[in-house]
Amino acid sequence: MLKVSGLNVYYGESHVIRDVAFDVAEGETVAIMGRNGMGKSTLLKSLIGMLPARSGEISLGGDLISGRPSFARVAAGMGFVPQGRMIFPYLTVEENILTGMENVVDKTVPAYVYDVFPVLAEMKTRRGGNLSGGQQQQLAIARALVSNPKVLILDEPTEGIQPSIIKDIAQALNRLKTDRGFSLVVSEQVLSFAVDVADRFLIIEKGEFVYEGPKETVDQARIHSYLTI
Ligand SMILES: Nc1ncnc2c1ncn2[C@@H]1O[C@H](COP(=O)(O)OP(=O)(O)O)[C@@H](O)[C@H]1O
Ligand SMILES: [Mg+2]
Repeated sequence: MLKVSGLNVYYGESHVIRDVAFDVAEGETVAIMGRNGMGKSTLLKSLIGMLPARSGEISLGGDLISGRPSFARVAAGMGFVPQGRMIFPYLTVEENILTGMENVVDKTVPAYVYDVFPVLAEMKTRRGGNLSGGQQQQLAIARALVSNPKVLILDEPTEGIQPSIIKDIAQALNRLKTDRGFSLVVSEQVLSFAVDVADRFLIIEKGEFVYEGPKETVDQARIHSYLTI
């Protein structure tokens, strides 16, 4: 579904993403794990087109999308939830969700959204800025979902969220994936969350993948050691 090859991203002369290549199959969830500063956000922002790549190819469902602007990548089927969620604090919950529906003909929030995130239904008319961190994360996921992505990209969705809500979010994502059938790419430092959602793990260190393993044979101790050194 998603295919990335030879991806290089720089900030000025600083070479941050180094020849990264990976694939994500239809319906698959891949967790990209790594400590702060290893390049997770830079990689994900370059996938969605918020940062330019110096070289490399990104294709989605067989269409080459690298080179296209972000809005065109979203229209082609990519959804993105940025680190820190970036919801609109002065818009209501419902208005925030509707900002994700620019490419959708019927501009009403689909029922499945409130079904899987009942707290958003309760808070429909509240301003986004008045929600807790966990509620804002659910809102940001909802906003990305309503454009019907083929590949949903989440950048550190558990950051600053309490453990009970982290469990809820993992459960909601797994249910949404079963019901809606998208692929998921998630960057994380919280191993328990990644284990709950991912089919495959990639470890990033200084902009390069240094470990890859499927859920079945995953060496949790090894992943943990990469996250805590
Ligand atoms: N806007 C920027 N300008 C220059 N360097 C940056 C910028 N954003 C991030 N970096 C650097 O790029 C590297 C990777 O950062 P980032 O992708 O944010 O890592 P992570 O998301 O894994 O914490 C770090 O060394 C960071 O300091
Ligand atoms: Mg980051």
